[in-house]
Amino acid sequence: MTRGEKTAIITGGGRGFGRAFGTALAAEGMHVVLVDIAGAVAEEAAAAIRAAGGSAEGLAGDVVDEARIAEVMAQGAARHGGIDILINNAGLHSDEYGQPITKLGYAKTRRLFEVNVLGTVCCTLAALAHMKRRAGASIVNIASSAAHMGGSAYGDTKLAVAGLTITFARELGADAIRVNAISPGLILTDTIRAELPEATKARVKAMQLIGDDGEERDIVEAMLWLTSDKARFVTGEVLRVTGGMAAGV
Ligand SMILES: NC(=O)c1ccc[n+]([C@@H]2O[C@H](COP(=O)([O-])OP(=O)(O)OC[C@H]3O[C@@H](n4cnc5c(N)ncnc54)[C@H](O)[C@@H]3O)[C@@H](O)[C@H]2O)c1
Repeated sequence: MTRGEKTAIITGGGRGFGRAFGTALAAEGMHVVLVDIAGAVAEEAAAAIRAAGGSAEGLAGDVVDEARIAEVMAQGAARHGGIDILINNAGLHSDEYGQPITKLGYAKTRRLFEVNVLGTVCCTLAALAHMKRRAGASIVNIASSAAHMGGSAYGDTKLAVAGLTITFARELGADAIRVNAISPGLILTDTIRAELPEATKARVKAMQLIGDDGEERDIVEAMLWLTSDKARFVTGEVLRVTGGMAAGV
């Protein structure tokens, strides 16, 4: 099956990495479904992909709304008779959710774990029936360098994402579905540019071994490789793309 006969579902697809992933996969000829809790933003991103000649649809959906996600997967699968790629990218990581648990409080900590961890489970389970028996099927979860450092509720959710990556890789290997994760370091997406304090950016950057700023394209390239046949023997891995920030941890 060529990339042009494939369908990719990308959660949190309206902006940031999600939009960049959708744009890159559509440029390879795939049909991409951008799912986002902000439905209008997802549709706008899909319209931009279509305007550039790609095939895309933008759908509203919360990654933990099991009924809605089932509908989204079924709609996405209708185009080419199944789903080939799932990118579990939607995540809460704004400054608000980066606070210590003692400041975050229970309700927000619960939502953080819900979206970042259970959203990955909900979407994976919903996509599964549509991915089985698709040659080259692959799932990529978006973790974070914060998972490898400890000391934050956000990092703990991403540690769970790394754990789930291995668990699902074990469970889905028999169905020939590869499951991997990317742990991005500090990448200047719009949310990071707008919300992360300059002092935090400088502190994180000082931990990098490579002095350049991390860009969306660095994560897009990792995703393209992991979802391609070039990575056909790779599953259960967490690929750190951090400029060396998490080296040795
Ligand atoms: N930017 C970075 O430096 C960085 C570093 C490490 C990890 N990450 C991770 O990468 C992912 C994407 O980051 P980004 O910077 O592109 O984020 P972003 O905030 O720019 O975009 C995230 C998108 O997810 C959507 N979303 C949020 N909650 C949702 C839900 N419940 N259901 C569906 N959609 C939802 C938002 O509406 C938004 O469009 C996140 O999981 C984040 O934790 C980002």
